[in-house]
Amino acid sequence: MRLQLVLPALLAALSLPAHADRLPVPANPLYIEECGACHLAYPPQLLDAHSWLHVMNGLPKHFGTDASLDDARRTAIADFLGANAGSRKTGVTADAKGQPLLRIRDTAYFQRKHREVASAVWTRASIKSPANCAACHVKAAAGDYSERSVTIPK
Ligand code: HEC
Ligand code: HEC
Repeated sequence: MRLQLVLPALLAALSLPAHADRLPVPANPLYIEECGACHLAYPPQLLDAHSWLHVMNGLPKHFGTDASLDDARRTAIADFLGANAGSRKTGVTADAKGQPLLRIRDTAYFQRKHREVASAVWTRASIKSPANCAACHVKAAAGDYSERSVTIPK
């Protein structure tokens, strides 16, 4: 009797992380082609729509590189990111002054999830940067950020 009461609750609790660690990128060949060329095509869910708009409006000066697109492609990708942006997971991705954050790594959600990663780890030659998600999340391209698919390289 007791087990029958406890088991469903336990199973429900166990099944939660399986959802929390899945961030699939909605199918969009143009996004994968253009925004997956230099780094992983990041999950749109990790920045809010305002942040993505600022990223997309600043492509000629994109984190020290030129990631310009023609207007048609830029608009199509901006629409896609806007439509799939943000979520209950990340909330608003802005700084204390309300300015949109452009980096996923600067969001409260990312920082909370990576609290246990020591700062020296991020700059290892095998990792280079927090932006290099797939260095540790070996199944990131499939949207799998679960604990069991994390391998921090030496
Ligand atoms: C020409 C190469 C290039 C292309 C194309 C490119 N990026 Fe980037 N992107 C970079 C570089 C370089 C960084 C900085 C990486 C770092 O700090 O280690 C970056 C960083 C980012 C970051 C911040 C990640 C973080 O949390 O630090 C976001 C968001 C981003 N890019 C989105 C996009 C989007 C959206 C597109 C497509 C419109 C795109 N990128 C296309 C080179 C590129
Ligand atoms: C240095 C290795 C490393 C890099 C690089 C890295 N992560 Fe992580 N990430 C981790 C570790 C370790 C955890 C915690 C795993 C755990 O305990 O669930 C984690 C957790 C997460 C989680 C939470 C998963 C869950 O179970 O709730 C998400 C989402 C995530 N990372 C996304 C990203 C994204 C997106 C990037 C790139 C912008 C990134 N990570 C870069 C190591 C890394």
